[in-house]
Amino acid sequence: MINLRSQREIEKMKQAGVVLASCHKELANLIRPGISSWDIDQFVEAFLQKHGATSEQKGYKGYEYATCSSINDEVCHGFPRKQPLKTGDIVTVDMVVSLNGALADSAWTFPVGNIDEETERLLTITKNALYIGIEAAQTGNRIGDIGHAIQTYVEAEGFSVVRDFIGHGIGDVIHEKPDVPHFGLPGKGPRIKEGMVFTIEPMVNAGSYDTKMDSNGWTARTADGKYSAQYEHTIAITNNGPIILTDQDQMSIYPSGV
Ligand code: MF3
Ligand code: CO
Repeated sequence: MINLRSQREIEKMKQAGVVLASCHKELANLIRPGISSWDIDQFVEAFLQKHGATSEQKGYKGYEYATCSSINDEVCHGFPRKQPLKTGDIVTVDMVVSLNGALADSAWTFPVGNIDEETERLLTITKNALYIGIEAAQTGNRIGDIGHAIQTYVEAEGFSVVRDFIGHGIGDVIHEKPDVPHFGLPGKGPRIKEGMVFTIEPMVNAGSYDTKMDSNGWTARTADGKYSAQYEHTIAITNNGPIILTDQDQMSIYPSGV
C-alpha cells in the first residue's frame, strides 16, 4: 500500500527537510582535505541536536551512525571512519532526519579539494540525473517514467545507473512503498498521485553498475573499483508538480508560481 500524505504531514516533513538541507549546506564548507568522515558524522550529530532533530538511521536495523559516508568507489552505506579525506576524493553524505515525528532523507556528494575533470563530470551528471527524475515525478505519470528518464540520460553520458539500490516511499518509517528504481521502462509501475512522498536518489557509476558488498554487511562498493556518486532528495507530489522537501536553495515549501 502506498500512503498518501496530507498537506499538514507534508509541511512537517518539509520542516525536517529544511534542517537536513541546512546541514548539507554547512557540510559543503566543512569538507576539505584532512577532515574525516568521522568528523562529518560528529558535526551532523551536533547540528541535529542544536536544531531539535534526531538521526533516524542511528539504530535503524542495527546501523550505528547518524550518517552514511561513502567515499570514492563506495556506492552507499559507508561507515564514518577516522581516516582523513584527501584531495581528489569524493564523499557522499546520506542522512535521514527526524523532527517532531516527521522524516526527511537526502544524500549529497561533495568533492574533497581538487577533483579531476572526469570525476567532476560524474558529479554533474549525477546531480542532473536527480533533477531529471524529479521533473518526471508528475501526477498522471508512472513511477517507471522516473527511472526511465534517469537511465536514458545517464547512459547517454557514458555512465551507468546502479541497480542494487533504489529510491523509496518515506513517512512513518524510512522505507515504505513505492519502490523507485532509477532505471526501467516508461509507463510501468504505480501511477504517481498527489500526496505521495518518496525519495529519488540515483547512484551513478563511472564504470559498470555492478556492486559488491563489504564484509561489514552494509557498505556496497563498485565491483570495478571506479568512482560512484549520489544525489538524493525527498519529494512530495502535488497536482502542481513535485515539491522538493530537502531543497538547499529554496527553504520555503511551495515553489514560486504555485
Ligand atoms: N538514506 C539511506 C537509504 O535510504 C538510509 C538507510 S538507513 C541506514 O538507504 F541505516 F542504512 F543508514
Ligand atoms: Co538516503
